[in-house]
Amino acid sequence: MTTAKLKTMGQQSGRRSWAEPWKIKMVEPIRLTIQAERTRALKEAGYNTFLLRSEDVYIDLLTDSGTNAMSDRQWAGMLMGDEAYAGSRNFYNLEEAVSTYYGYRYMVPTHQGRGAEHLLSQTLIKPGQYVPGNMYFTTTRIHQELAGGTFVDVIIDKAHDPGNEHPFKGNVDLGKLEFLIKQKGAENIAYISLAGTVNMAGGQPVSMANVRALRELCDRFRIRIYLDATRMVENAFFIQQREEGYADKPIAAILKEFCNYTDGAWMSAKKDNLVNIGGWLAVNDNELFDSLRNMVVIYEGLHTYGGVAGRDMEAMAIGIAEGVQDDQIRSRVGQVLYLGDLLLNWKIPIVKPVGGHAVFLDARKFYPHIPQDQFPAQTLAAQLYLNSGVRGMERGIVSAGRDPKTGEHRFPALELTRLAIPRRVYTQAHMDVVAEAVKTVYDAREHTKGLKMVYEPKRLRFFQARFEPVAE
Ligand code: F0G
Repeated sequence: MTTAKLKTMGQQSGRRSWAEPWKIKMVEPIRLTIQAERTRALKEAGYNTFLLRSEDVYIDLLTDSGTNAMSDRQWAGMLMGDEAYAGSRNFYNLEEAVSTYYGYRYMVPTHQGRGAEHLLSQTLIKPGQYVPGNMYFTTTRIHQELAGGTFVDVIIDKAHDPGNEHPFKGNVDLGKLEFLIKQKGAENIAYISLAGTVNMAGGQPVSMANVRALRELCDRFRIRIYLDATRMVENAFFIQQREEGYADKPIAAILKEFCNYTDGAWMSAKKDNLVNIGGWLAVNDNELFDSLRNMVVIYEGLHTYGGVAGRDMEAMAIGIAEGVQDDQIRSRVGQVLYLGDLLLNWKIPIVKPVGGHAVFLDARKFYPHIPQDQFPAQTLAAQLYLNSGVRGMERGIVSAGRDPKTGEHRFPALELTRLAIPRRVYTQAHMDVVAEAVKTVYDAREHTKGLKMVYEPKRLRFFQARFEPVAE
């Protein structure tokens, strides 16, 4: 849908494409390795793309996290770091940027998103409580579990179907949520864990109508909503593109309106905020803030630096303002859609609609002959690297991990390989090369064999697990 709209706008006046609202000032050489080198590197990495050395990678689509290119202004800001232990001026700049663009009253910096998830989960979840959310995220859920909570997925069913083209596949199913609240009792719900966009569903957005209705429902039961704002600017772009009444509203206004329906947010600034490291946690409630400010000192650092340097806070403050510019976000998501369109034109199975930060390949459709416990998406990530040096990431059964109660694999409906696009890093020509690499791997799909896991870490296993090809 968005794709169509972007295209139509181009076609209305002949050929008028969008382009990046920046030019390149500094480059970093990259190198295409030969197949024999990649075969060795992949074996050494236990067929896990997380364990490859970046030097052995040609185009790195492992993640859009911390891989952003900063602007000249952000780099200039790095030189303005006030590295005071307490009361750094950069902290106040960050605080102001968060309140200006996201609208929350109080903020503590954290070293990255999961630092904020830890503080929030430990502070708000009582053992035995439930935490409903619109699909799990790996680090988010583990912090909720470590705090004694149980995550419950209340996303709409369509989110679990890669081919369904619902424009807001990140939406909360309010019926499911209300049922859960009534079944467990409102006092046993810690809070709603709402993410915009939804990473594991394929970068899918939540509509404004949905968050508005969610607010009403939660007000009835006096339940709070906390937002994973990691990619909320991308979510705002989809609202502008797809939701009635928002086409003429600036991204910054949409972002603030959305946040206004929530009680606070945590942030991995390594995504939308255009930096390489950092995060924050922001809330409106003074009493809660008091607890968080107390907790941050124990785990991250004093509440005016929270595990990052003054210079990093300055880069974040500047990145927040740059990230919400309409032309910036249009070209960012536009590049993701460009790659998605190339693959769709070749009828390669991907999650539809194409999401905000990544193209997700549907590994089940690549390899219907590989059972899920032989890791189709892990296999696909390995094959893509082997073929072309392009690095993606598994987002299927390995990422889903084991159920803490039964110890069994969780078998998610979505078995995906993610190609995440770093912001302001690669060109359209890189996207062409990636698409062609995916096509080559797709064409060879019938002869591909699965993997077996030979080493399995206890928690967040996808980061460090090792694999071997199954026997011929
Ligand atoms: N929430 C979402 C939606 C995320 O995607 C991430 C990280 C986090 C929280 C945690 O933030 O990494 O700064 O601690 N996602 C990365 C990814 C790792 O590749 O999708 P963090």
